[in-house]
Amino acid sequence: MDSGDVTQLKIGFIGAGNMAFGIAKGILSWKVPAGNLKVSAPSDTNLQRFQEVGVAVTHSNVEAVCGSDVVFVAVKPHLVPVVLSEVFGSVTKDQMIVSVAAGVTLATLEELLPEASVAVRLMPNLPCVVQEGALLFSLGSKAKREHSVLLRSLLQGCGLVEEGPEAWIDVHTGSSGSGVAFVYLFAEALAEGSVKMGMPSALAHSLAAQTVLGAGRLLRDSGKHPAQLRSEVCTPGGTTIYGLHTLERGGVRAATISAVESATDRARELGLKSATAKRN
Ligand SMILES: NC(=O)c1ccc[n+]([C@@H]2O[C@H](COP(=O)([O-])OP(=O)(O)OC[C@H]3O[C@@H](n4cnc5c(N)ncnc54)[C@H](OP(=O)(O)O)[C@@H]3O)[C@@H](O)[C@H]2O)c1
Repeated sequence: MDSGDVTQLKIGFIGAGNMAFGIAKGILSWKVPAGNLKVSAPSDTNLQRFQEVGVAVTHSNVEAVCGSDVVFVAVKPHLVPVVLSEVFGSVTKDQMIVSVAAGVTLATLEELLPEASVAVRLMPNLPCVVQEGALLFSLGSKAKREHSVLLRSLLQGCGLVEEGPEAWIDVHTGSSGSGVAFVYLFAEALAEGSVKMGMPSALAHSLAAQTVLGAGRLLRDSGKHPAQLRSEVCTPGGTTIYGLHTLERGGVRAATISAVESATDRARELGLKSATAKRN
């Protein structure tokens, strides 16, 4: 597999839901022609939006796999054994099979695929749909460095793409997967604070969304530690330090750390359940 030019690659998707569409959009934004992609799903419900951007669609998972260099498995976790058994005979060792299913481990994927298959476990998050995802992947036992290079290159339009050991996937699920909802909760509370202080709701919500976006972009683009940026906003005796003191009194830092911890623990628990279900 040539890791240099991703524009030549044929890409298949099993499943046409939000995550498949988000990843496909990111791939298409990076000079890969729509004609190189093929997507399968049982119904037409989600296929239309792929057709609208020139991607070939099918109801056959085998068709999505045949001739593809990279296949994304983007169905709900409990359906992974079903779809992989369906395409088992069509998977070759020259393909890379990338599962985004939460909790489905590399060991499970390798058990479900033909012996020499190259499996990768990828954990994207929802902002993939606006090409601002945080993606972490782990390579299976048959994957080589060139697969890692190729996947990074293929997914560069989806957001930040990092590689790490599989144990970090559950942590990433807790912090960046579920973390998206934590940030929404904070944005909602920010807006509700403004409403409480007399601002109209619609304006309060759009200003809160822009505040979260702006703070996030500045944090990423400046490369500074959040504590440094925070201290730059704090005028001595000013509004921000008063507000921060209130947040600290409310335990927001400890609550956030605990939220990542419980979401990670839950991801691990679900992973164990799915491995047990596979064996039974
Ligand atoms: N959404 C997220 O934020 C997120 C984040 C990280 C990981 N993930 C993972 O991404 C995967 C997909 O999630 P999603 O949110 O994209 O789900 P989704 O929107 O519900 O989409 C699921 C897709 O799977 C298709 N499907 C169902 N049965 C199938 C079968 N037998 N063969 C082929 N396709 C089949 C569905 O077909 P129809 O179109 O006909 O209904 C649908 O297109 C999940 O495993 C999830 O754990 C999601």
